[in-house]
Amino acid sequence: MRLPESVVVLTGASGGIGLELAEQLCAAGAQVLAVSRHMGKLAGLMNRYPDRLRWQEADLRSQAGREQVVARAREMGTVNVLINAAGVNRFALLDQLDEHALDELLDINLKAPLQLTRACLPLLRAQPKALVVNVGSTYGSIGYPGYASYCASKFALRGFSEALRRELADTTVNVLYAAPRA
Ligand SMILES: NC(=O)c1ccc[n+]([C@@H]2O[C@H](COP(=O)([O-])OP(=O)(O)OC[C@H]3O[C@@H](n4cnc5c(N)ncnc54)[C@H](OP(=O)(O)O)[C@@H]3O)[C@@H](O)[C@H]2O)c1
Repeated sequence: MRLPESVVVLTGASGGIGLELAEQLCAAGAQVLAVSRHMGKLAGLMNRYPDRLRWQEADLRSQAGREQVVARAREMGTVNVLINAAGVNRFALLDQLDEHALDELLDINLKAPLQLTRACLPLLRAQPKALVVNVGSTYGSIGYPGYASYCASKFALRGFSEALRRELADTTVNVLYAAPRA
């Protein structure tokens, strides 16, 4: 897959990893739909790449937010890459998290990438080559104290990625799980 021919939906685009990915993708000639709730430092990048970078405000925990992203992706046409990088990480022992905080973490780290990938699959499958990248963590392979909920979300994302890759083995869509360290 050549980056100048890529049309990328990138979640978590206002964050540390997402912003760097957005910059590298734009510099390589890709078209990028950057997704986040806040524009933040993406504003500066949009000034530098007005023809390559678009922004969609969305809270990916909500169905409405995810539908906005898919509608915008459909407008862009030939979307062939989805990068699920949005995520949160809170250091807390399990019983220090209240029910709402735990739900929020699972909603953004796990439910959002599954639902967004499911919704984007028809667009991706229509392309001659397509790619889903799920941004996990080394904590998706190591159960670390203080990160029980985060580890649970990333272990699950890793399992999802492995199963989906096999599910889509006979299609044009590949699935990668990327596990950064700190
Ligand atoms: N940084 C690390 O050391 C590290 C290591 C391993 C794995 N990771 C993983 O890499 C990914 C990115 O990490 P990061 O360090 O770049 O995180 P970050 O700087 O905290 O950025 C998080 C991103 O997720 C977005 N986001 C959070 N909640 C959202 C929601 N409800 N709806 C839409 N977007 C939401 C944020 O945008 P808004 O707040 O503007 O919505 C932001 O763009 C995460 O999945 C993380 O688990 C990070």
